[in-house]
Amino acid sequence: MKTLQRTLTIIKPDAVRRNAIGDIIEQFEKNGFCILAMKMLQISKHQAEQFYAVHAGRPFFTSLTDFMSSGAIVVLALERENAIADLRKLMGATNPANAEEGTIRKKWATNIEHNAIHGSDAEETARFELSFFFAGYELAK
Ligand code: CMP
Repeated sequence: MKTLQRTLTIIKPDAVRRNAIGDIIEQFEKNGFCILAMKMLQISKHQAEQFYAVHAGRPFFTSLTDFMSSGAIVVLALERENAIADLRKLMGATNPANAEEGTIRKKWATNIEHNAIHGSDAEETARFELSFFFAGYELAK
């Protein structure tokens, strides 16, 4: 039996500014990810700090949360078999200098901070991140 998994992804402000939304969403669809929900919004500095609370205290925390609240983002709830790991493969390495050819970050990321896209890294994180942006009733069945 197939076990479907859900993950949360964010098209970050750098990618939105570069008009990469359509290209990135096309990659999700071509790779078999089902879009359960999607919205475009700008988060506040405080909301960015809450979302990335796990990184509080890291040297890049202030800069990361400034960046993530600097412009519009697109958040999507995706579903597929093995969605969490396979989306991270499609995204490529956090630092685009190490990202493989054919990945989203290889194409669109500028540097380790302005790296175009975020994806949940584990089931527990995915649950937190999905519920951060979407109420249960907003997810398509
Ligand atoms: P993301 O997948 O959104 O998860 C945390 C983010 O922190 C990461 O992508 C990067 O954008 C950022 N990040 C991680 N490590 C560094 C670093 N060493 N310097 C700057 N930003 C970082």
